[in-house]
Amino acid sequence: MTVTTRGLEGVLVGETAISTVGKEGVGLTYRGYDIHDLAKHSTFEEVAYLLVYGELPTAPQLQAYRDQLVKLRRLPNEVKLLLENMPGSAHPMEVLRTSVSMLGTLESESAQYTDHHIADRLIACVPTMLLYWYQFHRHNKRIEPWSSEEQTTAGYFLQLLHGKKPEEDMRRCLDVSLILYAEHEFNASTFAARVTTSTGSDFYSAIVSAIGTLRGPLHGGANEEAMHLITQFKTLEQAEKGIREMLADKVKIMGFGHRVYKKSDPRSDIIKAWSQKLSMQARDGYLFAVSEAIEKVMWEEKKLFPNLDFYSATAYHFCGIPTPLFTPLFVMSRLSGWSAHIFEQRANNRLIRPEAAYVGPAPRPFPPIQDRG
Ligand code: COA
Repeated sequence: MTVTTRGLEGVLVGETAISTVGKEGVGLTYRGYDIHDLAKHSTFEEVAYLLVYGELPTAPQLQAYRDQLVKLRRLPNEVKLLLENMPGSAHPMEVLRTSVSMLGTLESESAQYTDHHIADRLIACVPTMLLYWYQFHRHNKRIEPWSSEEQTTAGYFLQLLHGKKPEEDMRRCLDVSLILYAEHEFNASTFAARVTTSTGSDFYSAIVSAIGTLRGPLHGGANEEAMHLITQFKTLEQAEKGIREMLADKVKIMGFGHRVYKKSDPRSDIIKAWSQKLSMQARDGYLFAVSEAIEKVMWEEKKLFPNLDFYSATAYHFCGIPTPLFTPLFVMSRLSGWSAHIFEQRANNRLIRPEAAYVGPAPRPFPPIQDRG
């Protein structure tokens, strides 16, 4: 009998120089730098530059990169019209998938719009796409991107969302979260981007494949699902009882477990500390304690640990971010990692085309239509 590897678990499908995930069950590095150092000492723009351009920027390179991103925030009128015509009831991941695709028809890859330019362009303007649609449909407002006031992607996002200068703690929490979400080796959405790239397709098509793949609750959609789960419980007792019952019913608890990490997710404690810090000023700060109660039961019952999505949920919530925007924030960040992988795949491309073990009917004669049924 042919042995197959369900979900490609443990299969090495290629080489990468971009990141390491869970070597010996723990740890995460981007181009050799430990995630703890990056989260402590750098900003999202530095990390995006590291991923897209290969090395950390010098101070003048960082300033030039930030200026470039600020310049690229504006949307063509055609994209604004499209965003206005999309239903307000759409999921924001659908909105991003479609508006990135639309931009690809207006600024399609060419000598003018090179792959590195498109990477910068998307990192810069995806937050505008998201919040243009959101503010138009929720508050009947047509926002214009601020040009210089908020240089960081995190500050820009919060300013567009709340219409005022963000609090420093919230801005930095979001900045750190974007660092943590930026890159993760051959995860499902990155792999989807690489498969699309391997056929010789264009940059936007690879990104649209990745956005569609990220949306699912087993991948990026888990942060939204984790929030829905946490807000079901008003007390720690309710949470403990509820989670035990769900586990007994074999329900998967979103925000726990990981395909590669076996002992812990190195990003979780970093975002957990931010969630705890912000919970102290929040009206519904008890949700942090509820989250900890869920974490405790998951460990006792299943020896499962929280992944990045679990405490990101409450951290985002305490920043005043509506739950449907959680997975799009993941897109805003992971665009940098996806871009790096598209470049890497192109630099040493071979069509990605695995095989399947056939389990269907044995060869049989073709029946004329009148003999069927
Ligand atoms: N809640 C409850 N049980 C879980 C679980 C979870 N979040 N994650 C894994 N398990 C259990 C499974 O039920 C299974 O138990 P069994 O062997 O008794 O049937 C076992 O652990 C293996 O799970 P499996 O789904 O086969 O692992 P995987 O490697 O295919 O999946 C994930 C990895 C991440 C998809 C999975 O852990 C999951 O669905 N987590 C929730 C979604 C999530 O947080 N996704 C974001 C990932 S960063």
